[in-house]
Amino acid sequence: MHFHRDANLIAGIEHGEDAGIYKLRDDLALVQTVDFFTPIVDEPYDFGRIAVANSLSDVYAMGGTPLTAMNVVCFPNNSMDISILREVLRGGLDAMHAAGVILVGGHTVDDPELKYGLSVTGIIHPERVIHNYGALPGDRLILTKNLGTGIISTAIKACRAAPSDITAVTASMAALNRTASELMPLFNVHAATDITGFGLIGHAAEMIAGSSTGYIIETGRLPVFEASRKFAAEGMIPGGLHRNRDYYKNIVNVSPGIPQFYLDIIYDPQTSGGLLMAVPADKAAAFVEKLHLSGVPDAAVIGEVTAENPGRIMVI
Ligand code: CO
Ligand code: CO
Repeated sequence: MHFHRDANLIAGIEHGEDAGIYKLRDDLALVQTVDFFTPIVDEPYDFGRIAVANSLSDVYAMGGTPLTAMNVVCFPNNSMDISILREVLRGGLDAMHAAGVILVGGHTVDDPELKYGLSVTGIIHPERVIHNYGALPGDRLILTKNLGTGIISTAIKACRAAPSDITAVTASMAALNRTASELMPLFNVHAATDITGFGLIGHAAEMIAGSSTGYIIETGRLPVFEASRKFAAEGMIPGGLHRNRDYYKNIVNVSPGIPQFYLDIIYDPQTSGGLLMAVPADKAAAFVEKLHLSGVPDAAVIGEVTAENPGRIMVI
């Protein structure tokens, strides 16, 4: 593929970044992203909230402020009641309202399968962009949400999840990454991305691709949905988890004796997952504490950035 180079392009499609960023003026750049997917929970209203939180997340991952959005909708006109779509869009609108984002339009196509998401436009100061690259040796890695949404969504589809499991995973997926994003400049975050379909390892791999750093991930410190342990043991493993492992396992070293659960959860495809951030070591504990006090209760230090093993992830 051939990409046009442009002096004002700050982030494009070349480094697997979360959003496109284009400089308009020395003090202003445009942030653009689009994302949409099929339902992962049964409640249409909750699906709408989650889809919007997920779509906004790519803007937040780069430190941007989302301003406006357009609905992207695929809907089976002939086989699904229109009231379901209304609930999806109502959930989406409520999440946009909570984010301070204005809906300015949208587009619907007839499709056999319901899908929903947003095209988002935001802004950022060109010198305050937080890329997915730029982590430095010695940085600590902070993850802001529990892992396990893919495993629990699989259990929901198999009608195995308890109402309390569904409530917990829905609340996490519908939570905006806004708070963590807005705190990033205060704690000198060097690099960040959001954890979605490629799982923790896949998105970590994008952060270190082509760099002279490696990552250590400490499985004992990973925030996880407790229910995902039980469901993983019962075989509720999404297909995407196996695909992620097949794709990324060649850059991962696993210490002997790591329980199988962790070898699943690190590859679990997430929906509307948390931010993964590389933070100076002397700021990490204070940042996690601030996140906990600011309504991001599951945030945790999960590992560190090393000069050893460049391009590789050590799972210990
Ligand atoms: Co992303
Ligand atoms: Co995305």
